[in-house]
Amino acid sequence: MADRELTFEIFRYNPAKPEIKPQMQTYKLKETTGMTIFVALNMIREEQDPSLMFDFVCRAAICGSCAMIINGRPKLACKTLTRSLPKKIKLFPLPVFKLIGDLSVDTGTWFRNLSLKTESWVHTSKTFDPTKQEERMDNKTALEIYEAERCIECGCCIAGCATANIRDEFLGAAGINRVARFMVDPRDERTPEQYFEVVGCEEGAFGCMGLMACDDNCPMELPLQMQLAFVRRKMASIGLGVKQESKVKMGVG
Ligand code: SF4
Ligand code: SF4
Ligand code: FES
Repeated sequence: MADRELTFEIFRYNPAKPEIKPQMQTYKLKETTGMTIFVALNMIREEQDPSLMFDFVCRAAICGSCAMIINGRPKLACKTLTRSLPKKIKLFPLPVFKLIGDLSVDTGTWFRNLSLKTESWVHTSKTFDPTKQEERMDNKTALEIYEAERCIECGCCIAGCATANIRDEFLGAAGINRVARFMVDPRDERTPEQYFEVVGCEEGAFGCMGLMACDDNCPMELPLQMQLAFVRRKMASIGLGVKQESKVKMGVG
């Protein structure tokens, strides 16, 4: 693999300059040891084209800002080694999210809306008392919460999701994972019916086609398949209960 010359074909479009049509631009680069897509993009920007737009912050698969479509799959640029790819590398921005320019998209607004829609905070009637000792939580529950919180909001699961690509309001696996995180939290006092309001619909658990592209594409290897099944099961049982209740109220069934 040493001394390969890589050919990058990169999507270029700046929404601020609509007069220039979207196009693919080609760059050539000598591969170096341990090169990641992130390193390659920086070299291209420094040595060949300062106008190339892409995002990064941490360079360590922590911030989630460098996700893009790499040879057809959503991945983190800072975690993807060029040696794991053929010599020709095609890069596109993530779909679903608002394009800022070239490979840069706005995932922040999307995830902020997700937090608001799913009300991503602990709903409790207790008033916080800083003088009191913290309440204990059993290890199993704490680990379940920790597991769901490993999401870095990169957007890979959303970009690879067929439903999210056709339905703007779909919460996606990241959203359903978020809801699962609060469902298992004993401090959250929301009732099953209140959760049903958020995810018991086509924009939530019932819009999911279950083909698991999210699970395949998550760079943090979150157990999304398990979380989706958990929330779907809960919603189905609440949904059946709600149906039965309304039948009783209506005097049918
Ligand atoms: S399993 Fe559901 S959430 Fe995951 S990619 Fe498929 S439709 Fe999207
Ligand atoms: S669930 Fe995984 S793929 Fe989806 S946003 Fe979080 S870290 Fe990224
Ligand atoms: S730069 Fe932070 S995840 Fe890649």
